[in-house]
Amino acid sequence: MNYNEKVKICVDRLKHSKKIFVITGAGVSAESGIPTFRGKDGYWKNQSPQKLASPEGFAEDPKLVWEWYDYRRRLIKGCEPNPAHYSLSKLERKYDHFLIATQNVDGLHQRASSLNVVEIHGSIWEVKCTKDGKVEKNTETPLKELPLRCSCGALMRPNVVWFGETLPEKQLREIYDFIKTGDVDFTFIIGTSALFYYIIDWAQTVKNYGSFLVEINLDNTAISSIADIVFLNQAGIILPEITKQFI
Ligand code: OAD
Repeated sequence: MNYNEKVKICVDRLKHSKKIFVITGAGVSAESGIPTFRGKDGYWKNQSPQKLASPEGFAEDPKLVWEWYDYRRRLIKGCEPNPAHYSLSKLERKYDHFLIATQNVDGLHQRASSLNVVEIHGSIWEVKCTKDGKVEKNTETPLKELPLRCSCGALMRPNVVWFGETLPEKQLREIYDFIKTGDVDFTFIIGTSALFYYIIDWAQTVKNYGSFLVEINLDNTAISSIADIVFLNQAGIILPEITKQFI
């Protein structure tokens, strides 16, 4: 099947769909200038996830971890949503039931005006007190004092999910409530290496219920073999093409 045929099938399917589920990962923000985690220019190529994104790494060197988050916060603040984010936000306006489950902590879907976004790995723009767990919004860049401290004196940490930690319950429930009814017609899985079991589980669950599954990624992943259509291309090219023909 060639590229134009694939786009046409997606457009036809979307026209006949009522409920849309979207899973995104770092690849959807790559064209905004935000590095991904894996791959040749990814963070995990030269840096250690155990040191920078685990509770043990934070306990060992909170300043180092905060310096990395401060660097990423500054970088993200200087980036804008790209055509992939804007296409999803436009598409959402056409449906009563539309949910984006993102692994990204950058907030770019919301900045592109997407409404129903579940941040399953938390937000880089929130901080959490390590003593009482209180969460606060914090968009200051650069942060003045590193490691960041709460007014109670305890260390603050980024309100993100690190390796070895469980996903936030409320967000998990929102996703399962959305997909468990078995009526998702169309699912996009975009820009994720799909290495976490829950990503594969969500894609497999909607697929088992009969959802049409479309993957957009530069490379094949564990999802590709169950997807109905795979676009091996940039999300910022494919999504605008689909929405242009649909809307
Ligand atoms: P990864 O860095 O693992 O994967 C990014 C994916 O995006 C790869 O499969 C790329 O091929 C694809 N990609 C890159 N540019 C793209 C583009 N322009 N259009 C489409 N696809 C593109 O990122 P995630 O799958 O999001 O977690 O990683 C999942 C989690 O692992 C992250 O949330 C983070 C990381 O460690 C934590 O920090 C806990």
